[in-house]
Amino acid sequence: MRRLLPPPTGDDGPNGPDGREWSPAELAAAYAHPDPLPDGGWLRANMVTSLDGAGHHGGRSQPLSCPADMRIFGVLRALADVIVVGAGTVRSEGYRPARRREEFAGARVAAGQEPVAAIAVVSAGLDLDFSSPLFTEPVVPTLLVTGEAAPPERLAAARAAGARTVFAGEGATVEPARVRTELAALGYRRQLTEGGPGLLGRFVAAGVLDELCLTVSPRMTAGEAGRIARDGTPVEVPRELEPISILEEDGFLFTRYVTRSAGRPVTR
Ligand SMILES: NC(=O)c1ccc[n+]([C@@H]2O[C@H](COP(=O)([O-])OP(=O)(O)OC[C@H]3O[C@@H](n4cnc5c(N)ncnc54)[C@H](OP(=O)(O)O)[C@@H]3O)[C@@H](O)[C@H]2O)c1
Repeated sequence: MRRLLPPPTGDDGPNGPDGREWSPAELAAAYAHPDPLPDGGWLRANMVTSLDGAGHHGGRSQPLSCPADMRIFGVLRALADVIVVGAGTVRSEGYRPARRREEFAGARVAAGQEPVAAIAVVSAGLDLDFSSPLFTEPVVPTLLVTGEAAPPERLAAARAAGARTVFAGEGATVEPARVRTELAALGYRRQLTEGGPGLLGRFVAAGVLDELCLTVSPRMTAGEAGRIARDGTPVEVPRELEPISILEEDGFLFTRYVTRSAGRPVTR
């Protein structure tokens, strides 16, 4: 792993361009949240794209990924209070609960966090498998973020499975901005969304994203795969983000952008 941005200075220490694998602690330092954390929380997205803009290959993001991407994926999870994910991704990727990692246990206790990030599934229809490990075997209860008009029988099934329901919309769907505020009100301020594209598009359209961690995979796929953000009302003027960090390993670029209004987090 080496740092491309900010440009290496020669005395970069552990985050310098030394070509070796970075430890989880070094990656955690490179992806530190802003300090102090804004009261309203911080919404970070982590996504991967191919060079030709595909957000998946054959319905999975794994073919676009690499070991370093998976290490960063794990570290971003370990830093988060909650992982917000759309029901489409839960269904297509067979989502499981976040797993406990010993190397982050102390830091999580010190930060007042639960032992692992809770998974919060955003869904209107609640067509989810409540007998799956995501609901039956989580370290901390899985959250279901939905609208007040969600199907009552599916809500009952979710509750029976131990899921915690968070309402973030008056109809069946949720308002993207309310996902953020409702979770922050529950104490989940370090918010990580892993998409998918349908949910990310709505977050972008609503202007509630603070940060995008985007892995650019040195692969091309052609075909019909959609990009990393879709749906959501198109924004009138394209939203501008500022690159604050780029790492590289094996031709993969690990970029980190913040929205201009969000301010700069500490990067080192
Ligand atoms: N490139 C990447 O980094 C990345 C990351 C994640 C996923 N993916 C890929 O993306 C594909 C899945 O895409 P997707 O767009 O279907 O996934 P998605 O965004 O995870 O899920 C879409 C679903 O989320 C729920 N949802 C979204 N916005 C909502 C709102 N405002 N209110 C209520 N529910 C809402 C709906 O669920 P209900 O239908 O249950 O109502 C909707 O059908 C998969 O192939 C996956 O591999 C790629």
